Amino acid sequence: MRHLLSISDLPDEALRDIVAAGVRIATAKGRQRNSLDGVIIGMLFRQTSTRTRTAFSVGALRLGARIVTFQPADLQTNTGETLADTARVLSLMLDALVVRTASDASELRVLAGQDDAAVINAMDPAEHPTQALADLTAMAGHFGRIEGLKVLYVGEGNNTAAALALAMSRYPGVRLELRTPPGYGLPQPVLDQAAGYAGSSGATVTELHHMRDLPDKSDVIYTTRWQTTGTAKPDPDWRELFAPFTVNASLWDGSPDAVFMHDLPAHRGDEVTAEVLDGPRSIAFTQAACKLYSAMAVLEWCCEEGRR
Ligand code: CP
Repeated sequence: MRHLLSISDLPDEALRDIVAAGVRIATAKGRQRNSLDGVIIGMLFRQTSTRTRTAFSVGALRLGARIVTFQPADLQTNTGETLADTARVLSLMLDALVVRTASDASELRVLAGQDDAAVINAMDPAEHPTQALADLTAMAGHFGRIEGLKVLYVGEGNNTAAALALAMSRYPGVRLELRTPPGYGLPQPVLDQAAGYAGSSGATVTELHHMRDLPDKSDVIYTTRWQTTGTAKPDPDWRELFAPFTVNASLWDGSPDAVFMHDLPAHRGDEVTAEVLDGPRSIAFTQAACKLYSAMAVLEWCCEEGRR
């Protein structure tokens, strides 16, 4: 049993193993494999989700596990039971718990304060680690490698961007350049951690708050929705700051071979034009399919250890 609360929880070898397993599962189109026969996995999504919840639910079923689904208001935490007692009880009955929460990381840490059931972060405000694993699975499937990829990330420095930076900075030769609106960049501790990884691996991670002098010959141009699930922007004029960061076809002038990636859900006309999202360079829906394959790889990594 192993928790996955952050990409930082994964040693380099485990990160590479999960991505490689995701690619193998993708090649097999995620067919039934029953490696988690007898395992029971709880799904606790306190926030809306289409892809992540479906990916982990279907992934668990394809691996032969069974699932228990909790609606946001189902648990006695809503009547005052402590999260620690809840975690203790759930860990007596479940093998793993997949959690999406709008609370800070302390909620996940309390849920993971036991050694019997794996806790998987299916997105919290700070990080979306399983999204990064799906993204790297999609990149590895498309390019055959992660090493050396040049990625231009455009948009808010949100939980998806944080996980992407923490993951990509672990691969030699990666060039990750983030262009984020002023005041909406990656938190400094995340940048520092990614810079630390990059210093060891030979990657580079940079962030600027404008859209001038874009790097050319990117392999990937990536964006995410401007209004991240479960968050709100206090500044009523935030759209003015974000407007220059819409991904449109002109970004391909210097990177004609780049693919477009988006974690979805998308708002055409905000963070990306329909022409780009629905165009020939977009692999956003292949990336969405990789949510399932990488969820299967994550579930196996989290649950299989205790079954050996
Ligand atoms: N990309 C992603 O996390 O999608 P959902 O919010 O639909 O799960």
